[in-house]
Amino acid sequence: GGVDLDEVYSFALDLAKHAGKLLDDAWRARCDGGLQSDHVEKESAVDLVTQTDEEAFIKQQIASKFPSHKFIGEETYSKGGSKEYLIGHEPTWCIDPLDGTVNYIHIFPMFCVSIGFILDGEPVIGVINAPFLNQTFSACRGKGAWLNGTQRLPLIRNPIPPMPENAPKGCVFSCEWGKDRRDQPDGNLHRKVESFLNMAAEVGGREGKGGMVHGVRSLGSATLDLAYCAMGAFDIWWEGGCWEWDVAAGICLLKEAGGLVTTANPPADPSTARIEDAKLGGRLYLAIRPAGDTEHETARQG
Ligand code: IPD
Repeated sequence: GGVDLDEVYSFALDLAKHAGKLLDDAWRARCDGGLQSDHVEKESAVDLVTQTDEEAFIKQQIASKFPSHKFIGEETYSKGGSKEYLIGHEPTWCIDPLDGTVNYIHIFPMFCVSIGFILDGEPVIGVINAPFLNQTFSACRGKGAWLNGTQRLPLIRNPIPPMPENAPKGCVFSCEWGKDRRDQPDGNLHRKVESFLNMAAEVGGREGKGGMVHGVRSLGSATLDLAYCAMGAFDIWWEGGCWEWDVAAGICLLKEAGGLVTTANPPADPSTARIEDAKLGGRLYLAIRPAGDTEHETARQG
């Protein structure tokens, strides 16, 4: 049967609110109790899960409201989910109950719950709640992207798109290292770090053709990186180690804000990056903040 996107959207908003509250309560209890080691390692020493992951709660809520929908969650997947291509055509929820796990454990407040809904392989709803920051980002196909339900994204408009090969002066870049700490010959950590720094230096140091990047950030939450690109705070975000649940909600948000995201950039040579529609299922992502729309600019100028 058909999917009522309005119904799914309002359910997703409620769900993100509840899950965010649970996360916030646990976070506060954790801060009050001092440092506890309530986390365990998964596939590597930096791949962590805390006991406050709310995936079971979210999964159960979705199953009782939309029993026919497919569910993909970070923790369900880790507990032996199939390693096949994850996203198909069916209505699919793709969630990360806690993105920014390392931050959460180290009491750095950049963490959130990320709820994405996908139709025919395309993220069409995204709700991200960062409870400690009091920021809820939401988007539904055709309805724009919003901060706390009232401020339309992007908040900052710069008419020039920050393409890596020709980024305007004063950009802020964001990158993440992912969780793979293996290096050559069986991993690519070194190459990843180097190519990101090259990209920042290339774009940031090129006087005359843009030049002088204002800053390079690494927040520790891929979801929030995408949200801050949609907001216009970050100009470019790049990462080579993402999973579907890290990006599903954020991709919808960024696209609704008018930004661009691609999976197609070869990390070794970011200057050849091509921007096209994002395809879930890659591990590399390059996101570009929205460029200002002229109608909006004209209206503002009177
Ligand atoms: C991770 C974070 C991190 C990114 C990793 C993600 P988690 O998600 O978003 O910033 O570099 O690729 O897997 O483990 O905190 O849910």
